[in-house]
Amino acid sequence: MCGIFGYIGPKNVAKTTIEGLKTLEYRGYDSAGIAGISHGKIYYCKEVGKVEVLEKEVQKSQMVIDVGIAQTRWATHGKPSKINAHPHLDNDGTIALVHNGIIENYESLKQMLQTNGAKFVSQTDTEVIAHLVSSRYKGDFLKAVQEAVPLLKGAFAIAIIHRDFPDRMIAVAHQSPLIIGKGYGETFISSDANAFAAHTREVVYLADSEIAVVKAHEIEIYNSSMETVVRETKTLSNAMQEATKSGFAHFTLKEINEQPKTIRSALLSRFIDGYGTAIFEEIGLDLNELLAVQRILILACGTSWNAGYLSSYMFEDKARIPVQVEISSEFRYKNPVVPSGTLVIAISQSGETADTIAAVRELKAKGIRVLGICNVHDSTLAREADACIFLKAGPEIGVCSTKAFTSQIVVLTLLCLMMARMRHMGKREGQDFLDALQKLPEQVQSVLDQSELIRKIAKKYAHYENFFFLGRGYMYPTSLEGALKLKEISYINANGYPAGEMKHGPIALINEACPTVALCANKITYEKFLSNLMEIKARSGPIIAIAEEDNKNIEKIADDVIWVPATIDELAVVPTTIATQLLAYYIALERGTDIDQPRNLAKSVTVE
Ligand code: M6R
Repeated sequence: MCGIFGYIGPKNVAKTTIEGLKTLEYRGYDSAGIAGISHGKIYYCKEVGKVEVLEKEVQKSQMVIDVGIAQTRWATHGKPSKINAHPHLDNDGTIALVHNGIIENYESLKQMLQTNGAKFVSQTDTEVIAHLVSSRYKGDFLKAVQEAVPLLKGAFAIAIIHRDFPDRMIAVAHQSPLIIGKGYGETFISSDANAFAAHTREVVYLADSEIAVVKAHEIEIYNSSMETVVRETKTLSNAMQEATKSGFAHFTLKEINEQPKTIRSALLSRFIDGYGTAIFEEIGLDLNELLAVQRILILACGTSWNAGYLSSYMFEDKARIPVQVEISSEFRYKNPVVPSGTLVIAISQSGETADTIAAVRELKAKGIRVLGICNVHDSTLAREADACIFLKAGPEIGVCSTKAFTSQIVVLTLLCLMMARMRHMGKREGQDFLDALQKLPEQVQSVLDQSELIRKIAKKYAHYENFFFLGRGYMYPTSLEGALKLKEISYINANGYPAGEMKHGPIALINEACPTVALCANKITYEKFLSNLMEIKARSGPIIAIAEEDNKNIEKIADDVIWVPATIDELAVVPTTIATQLLAYYIALERGTDIDQPRNLAKSVTVE
């Protein structure tokens, strides 16, 4: 994981580098560091904690440097500490570097370097790169890097400086993103172009195994055969939108509250009222290709996987297309059978999730086309998929995904509607679907309007350490997403489970200390679900029901009820999820956790 940033140019280097680094905190935030060159010496500063801790130290020391490289870390090898934080230096302090990724063969390299006299100080895999480049250095900085890089195995994006070359940094990318931003007399490098989008929108993407010598006025790129590469500059399609809390206590709360707007935006210009169907004009999907689709394969992680899984119920039920939903980290190491006629959909809010990107690359290497569903323009998925549908949800800053999930549901529902209408779904049924979709923003608002009530319920249950989220039908994937939200921001153990499956084992965990959040909004299985809840109640499990307004009989079973507006089963995930998001948020608030940046997590999981 981790984010790296570098700057060379006339601005205050330390300040510009740290400002860029702050926008990469979504990639990890357990420690941070910066290095630069001044008067033939490398200066660096590392701190445990967020970038603001580093910033204060750098301000205190009034760091003045000619070139700056920095990293915000999500620990993989070695716990978060000053020693393990980047940059890492060689023993003479001639070379400093920052790294995003994992060096898989670091143990064997370390042994070899130690035998030759290198002294290691950290537990990281990254430190081997500093000693390796140093061991190859005979006065030619580029040559040393070019000799070292082929010895590295794994995924890496690296920025390196040498104390004798204050006019440059060397950037290396291999299966980890690294983007160079070309300004007027200044150059940036970053794991994500948005980090320098306020300065320049002219970018160069480094391809696998490429090495770039980056100076303020020029960039030279070399391929793995050490030949010069001529690479066209691209212009970013959208500058990063400003992300502020707009008066909310947390980005997460702001993003939960934005959902009436983000759902409208996901729907905008993507349906034809009166014909009961959807269109995605912006990606120019070939309708004949869609008509020929015989099965769907969905790849995603985390919340995006939950959205994909939920959509599989819908695609099968409404479009009658069989769907296989795969967790990217598992799929990438399978030898999958992907028959012709398969539509591959890769879902990722960030478009940078390493496992999803790797799974996509594996399929593309087999000649299979991929449709991306993504929120971030110019992200790796957006660039590498054959076509991409954007969520249009605006930047999602809170590590826990909220508005992206509901937008994913809307986009997937529209896609399902379009494919169902191309097959056998009639106009009337299609229009009913569309009508229900268009009511969602208003319905979401009505759940948001109950925030105070949900806050009271959250207060009552915030001290419990174990929760179940139960549902049936569409409410089962909804329960997975509800439980994921609670565990990631409140650090409570929460399990999403199909209610009918409880009696096959997990019901053993039910007692008065284990509340169940009962997701009732599935009409087809409602009566069966009530019986499952009676089984929970009979074992003294407290029940918080999230139920549609006409399910009044739930009051007799549940200890507390949050009412949500009724919709069709396929879309009930949306109002119910808003209630689970608010419940998780207020429980976390009560427990005093770091809601926007929960411990051990990162917004974008860029290592496998
Ligand atoms: O950017 P992506 O959608 O690919 O991210 C996938 C997961 O890492 C992400 O959804 C994660 O599970 C969230 N923190 C959940 O809230």
